[in-house]
Amino acid sequence: MNTNVLEGRVAVITGGSRGIGLGIAIAYRAAGAHVVIAARKAAGLATAREELLRVKGDGDVLTVVANAGEPDQAEACVDQTMERLGRIDVLVNNAATNPYHGDLLGLDLPRAEKTVRVNQYGMLAWTRFAWQAWMGAHGGAVINIASVGGLIVDPHIGYYNATKAAMLHMTRQLAYELGPAVRVNAIAPGLIKTELARAVWEARESILTARLPLRRLGTVEDVANAALFLASDASSWMTGQTLVLDGGATALPIGVEE
Ligand SMILES: NC(=O)c1ccc[n+]([C@@H]2O[C@H](COP(=O)([O-])OP(=O)(O)OC[C@H]3O[C@@H](n4cnc5c(N)ncnc54)[C@H](OP(=O)(O)O)[C@@H]3O)[C@@H](O)[C@H]2O)c1
Repeated sequence: MNTNVLEGRVAVITGGSRGIGLGIAIAYRAAGAHVVIAARKAAGLATAREELLRVKGDGDVLTVVANAGEPDQAEACVDQTMERLGRIDVLVNNAATNPYHGDLLGLDLPRAEKTVRVNQYGMLAWTRFAWQAWMGAHGGAVINIASVGGLIVDPHIGYYNATKAAMLHMTRQLAYELGPAVRVNAIAPGLIKTELARAVWEARESILTARLPLRRLGTVEDVANAALFLASDASSWMTGQTLVLDGGATALPIGVEE
């Protein structure tokens, strides 16, 4: 792929201060985009901004303190982006929350509402504001970071996974509703070595990877490469789809232990 595939374009990335979101921001900077990263904590955003400017010194890196689950903060971020950079070509709905581990029937309403608010309604609100401000009239690409958990059953994080499954469905629905101006696609990562998932992978990495066809966990670069493809014109005839990046975890025979 041409290295400057996003030259001059503006990309907004929620949860862009670390992990997968920062990895995507780095890939987009390297491809020539101006990037806007949003997260809840200013300190993390400031550190991420320095890292992004080291990737490429020219062009803009805007940081915005915004909770993905607060629509007024989403709108304010989009407004600031339009004031400073004048366009929004790419939106990556990456921020998510997972406040509950346990079986579905044990889930309380406050944590259920928080999960839906950030993971499910959040992606809708950010997409709506980006559409209204720029994309509806000028086109663009929306990329939703879901999870392979949206396709499978897990003993501990079923509700989080249900919101990720909803993201996959809304990706298709929005592709239908927002075409032809805007393409909407999703990425469903398997286990990626970030802080969010450290408790899952750190002590058991060799066990977890032994059964994977590709024998390793994912990296933020694996996801960033796919997100770059989905943001670029290389995927211009693709919408409503989900790229599963899981090292082959969902390509295993059912009931076979090794
Ligand atoms: N890591 C995995 O194995 C894995 C697998 C499948 C899917 N995913 C998905 O990938 C995405 C990123 O995960 P990650 O592993 O990169 O997480 P991470 O390393 O914990 O990073 C999360 C980022 O999102 C921000 N954030 C968290 N809650 C937010 C909120 N309510 N509003 C705005 N920003 C928020 C964080 O900054 P602040 O704390 O400052 O807000 C940070 O920038 C999520 O959608 C996750 O569900 C991850």
